[in-house]
Amino acid sequence: MKLIIDDANVEAIKALYEYYPVDGVTTNPSILAKSGRNPYDVLGEIRGIIGPDAELHVQVISKDAEGMIKEAQVIREKLGEKTYIKIPTTREGLKAMKALKKNGINVTATAIYTAQQAFLAGKAGADYAAPYINRIDNLGANGIATAKKIHDIFRLNNLPTSVLAASFKNSQQVLELAEYGVGAATVSADVIEGLLKNEVVSSAVDAFIADFEGLVGEGMTMADC
Ligand code: E4P
Repeated sequence: MKLIIDDANVEAIKALYEYYPVDGVTTNPSILAKSGRNPYDVLGEIRGIIGPDAELHVQVISKDAEGMIKEAQVIREKLGEKTYIKIPTTREGLKAMKALKKNGINVTATAIYTAQQAFLAGKAGADYAAPYINRIDNLGANGIATAKKIHDIFRLNNLPTSVLAASFKNSQQVLELAEYGVGAATVSADVIEGLLKNEVVSSAVDAFIADFEGLVGEGMTMADC
């Protein structure tokens, strides 16, 4: 399962790329709005950090297919071929997805709340379909179960689309989908940090250091003795 950063905070992305095994960045209009800056300035910086070959997912704003297609062309021109155009899975969105895929443009079907929407996005040729785990839970349905069902529908129907699960509230949800083998999860910086944050690990490492320093002296490492 790919692990993607769902954030447009340039400093957070830089830090995550330095330390964690991550596979790209997703954004949406609300995430970009948090930066308070010109969207292409922020996205250009993100592209610079992750490099030309990494996945960068950018959402369109238009509600009609023609507008979505026009935006997709501009986004791709400015941010490169490895940019995935996030298209909301509406009636107009499906039309845009079909046209974009005909022209070889990477598409992520987004705003997915039901397996029915995901099935249609898969049939329209989307590369990814993004079910919103937490938002589905908040509607009284089960986000994780929906993502698993979509994964099964794609595999059983030989659709090449992968699940790109989104909208997580904790690291356990991410792990549950990794265990199921879904294609990708896009996760905020703090939930990625949550995959590793564990007091037991830090105290185990501290105990090893204390034992070693007791043997060979304070501040000593395997490089010094
Ligand atoms: C990703 O495609 C979505 O835009 C995003 O993950 C939604 O997350 P939220 O429900 O935390 O806003």
